[in-house]
Amino acid sequence: MDDRIGLMGFGSYAPARVMTNDDWSKLVDTDDAWIVARTGIRERRFAADDESTLDLAAAAAEKALADAGIGASDIDEIIVATDTPEVYTPDTAAFLQDRLGAGEVPAFDLGGSGCAGFVLALDIARTRVMAGAQRILVVGVELISRLMDWTDRNTCVLFGDAAGAVVVGRGAVEAELLGATSGTDGSRAGILTLETGGTRRPFSLEEAERGGQHDIVMNGREVFREAVKRMSAATEQVLQKIGRMKEEVALIIPHQANLRIIDAVRSRLGVDEDKVFVNLDRFGNTGSASVPLALAQAREEGRIRAGDLVLLTAFGAGFHWSAAALQF
Ligand code: ACO
Repeated sequence: MDDRIGLMGFGSYAPARVMTNDDWSKLVDTDDAWIVARTGIRERRFAADDESTLDLAAAAAEKALADAGIGASDIDEIIVATDTPEVYTPDTAAFLQDRLGAGEVPAFDLGGSGCAGFVLALDIARTRVMAGAQRILVVGVELISRLMDWTDRNTCVLFGDAAGAVVVGRGAVEAELLGATSGTDGSRAGILTLETGGTRRPFSLEEAERGGQHDIVMNGREVFREAVKRMSAATEQVLQKIGRMKEEVALIIPHQANLRIIDAVRSRLGVDEDKVFVNLDRFGNTGSASVPLALAQAREEGRIRAGDLVLLTAFGAGFHWSAAALQF
């Protein structure tokens, strides 16, 4: 009997509307050369006015279910990783359960773990399958364009909207989930945060007047340093956990925040450029959607073959980090 736990279906969705660096230069004091040199991003996708987080999540989820050859009634759990939920309460997973027509199964969001959310959700899904769940839908989705400050050039040019999804289950899997590792350093929580709307700083007229609801606080350099350190270490840790060598890795799919971060992780690990998947030039930083979007695209573009060992590594607000190893 095939008892492996892993990924059975993949899906992704990026909205049609393209926002180029030149488009940004008409709105804030920036230019294509600065953005490309500092981040590697050339364009990103933004949701249409009538699209919501749920629409993005459902589009990716439907593709993942179809790819796995199953229907919504075959899922027995739903996890949605997002920091930009459909509404404040209840969570996006509840809306998604209804939209997909899934059974009355546990459905919950993993919120607040920033760009590490999806890989952390995979780590959790794996243990839930070990505990008896058969098929879990895991979604990473972000609609950041609607919540960020469109006048803050320090942050607005970095992000994009998208969703990615996988089905995690036991049996005939396409990629075995060999292991995962996750961690948190909450002492750095203030370095990348959006405070307004929580109990510390509730919504108020004063907050609204100063645009507090869009107030992403970010120390870019600190985030940069920590992202490199933590994503490299998590990659090494997961390899150690599964007893495999760096040389055996066919492809690393890192969180797509910044090309310089990805290059620094690659050089720390001593890995060749062709072994690292990059799509942030086309999509920017799509938060929790970044890794599943890249994973689905790498597979579609033929960058992953049967027999490949593929590593996912992500880092986000918290700080949180997570890495996972997949054997295709
Ligand atoms: N266009 C033009 N100039 C800009 C822009 C812009 N869009 N944004 C900032 N600048 C200016 C700054 O104001 C600063 O000007 P000053 O020197 O007059 O004060 C100058 O550029 C240099 O700023 P630095 O902060 O030194 O630039 P740096 O090389 O560190 O790059 C960046 C900034 C891209 C934010 C980088 O630090 C970074 O990518 N950090 C990681 C942040 C990140 O990825 N956050 C996403 C969420 S978290 C995550 O996904 C892991």
